Amino acid sequence: MRIEKPRGTRDFLPDEMEKRRNIEGIMRRIVESFGYREVSTPTFEHLELFTIKSGDEIIEEIYAFKDKSGRDLALRPELTAPVMRLFVNECFVMPKPLRFYYFANCFRYERPQKGRYREFWQFGVELIGSDTPESDAEVIILAYRIMEELSIDFSLHIGHVGLLRKVLHGVDEKERAMRFIDKKEWRELENFLERKGKGELFEKIMELSSSRSIEEAISVYPDFDYSHISKVLGILDSLGIDFKLDFGIARGLDYYTGMVFEIYGRGLGAQNQICGGGSYSLTGIFGKEDVPATGFAIGFDRVAEICNVDQEKTRKVVVIGFGDYSKATKVADVLRREGIPSVVDVMGRSVKKQLSFANSINADYAVFVGEEFKKGLVTVKNLNTGNQREIRFEELSSYIINGEI
Ligand code: HAM
Repeated sequence: MRIEKPRGTRDFLPDEMEKRRNIEGIMRRIVESFGYREVSTPTFEHLELFTIKSGDEIIEEIYAFKDKSGRDLALRPELTAPVMRLFVNECFVMPKPLRFYYFANCFRYERPQKGRYREFWQFGVELIGSDTPESDAEVIILAYRIMEELSIDFSLHIGHVGLLRKVLHGVDEKERAMRFIDKKEWRELENFLERKGKGELFEKIMELSSSRSIEEAISVYPDFDYSHISKVLGILDSLGIDFKLDFGIARGLDYYTGMVFEIYGRGLGAQNQICGGGSYSLTGIFGKEDVPATGFAIGFDRVAEICNVDQEKTRKVVVIGFGDYSKATKVADVLRREGIPSVVDVMGRSVKKQLSFANSINADYAVFVGEEFKKGLVTVKNLNTGNQREIRFEELSSYIINGEI
């Protein structure tokens, strides 16, 4: 009987995993260079953590279940709420700001398609305890540098949900309007505002979302304090960061309060959002005073799909012992300690078969451990060039590391 993997999930083979680990390594290096440190939270949480403030869209997509004691639990659909729970429970009094990052799988019951999965990975950061323009700028710069380092073809859009909420002030069910904006469902938005007797706001929102400068936005809607977002953009300009002002960004999650941003990658089709984030406040749901925070999450799978990182290639060795497994293992053991991946036949196969196996796993060298090993000698064969020579065992690892022979 063949059992398929659940819909919307994936298996990853070694080549793909190697690539993913490589990308992950680059992301870790960059966020750590900004002073962020890793946290980890449970794969499942109490359902209410996500239902209180994550937005209807996410709630519909939650993998919720009851455990054997009847508790309502959910597989995490994202990590901002869990990280804030961790912050409130474990780190509330620590010196601010806290800079946390995470890399973990998330689960959403969505209709699977290219770039949209039911289990996917997010790499994200949360900067907790500050609401200055500098903090918002920092997380944007960080996301930007990651995309640059991964040589991704992308565009960065920055907006402000505070402005949209201000425009929609007094409209009842305004989160529904935000959702239409988020999905760019303009007709639905127009109908919705008409029904609420606020049809005139539709034009304003359309004009704001097509404003390409703060000055333009001010002329459309003067009644808002643009100083915070102006300062954020000023910092980005001073660093040569390329972005588009986009007041049409509403984000799908309800916890955002101010600056919001999204990054779109080219080469992905419809699901092209590779990163989303912004400033938010979530501590209130835990009955605590407001602690501002800002952050983002990168859709790791989408990034992996469109980026080609140079794989750092470690030379791989097959050690052939002519039937003497223990001698071969001894040699392999030394190589492994030097960091050289070494494989020894465990199936009692002929030398010919071992060499063809070496080929199938793309090994770079075969090391023959025969009679001469008593005199401290082994024979190394470069499987790419066919060159072969006898060398002293002590020199073996340096030969391989340096790619000689
Ligand atoms: P989000 O926009 O819901 O934000 O998700 C972040 C990223 O996760 C998206 O931009 C997308 O690349 C990826 N993503 C979302 N759903 C899927 C899916 N079904 N399959 C593949 N990739 C997906 C958040 O989750 C916020 N917690 C981000 C944040 C952090 N805001 C502040 N801090």
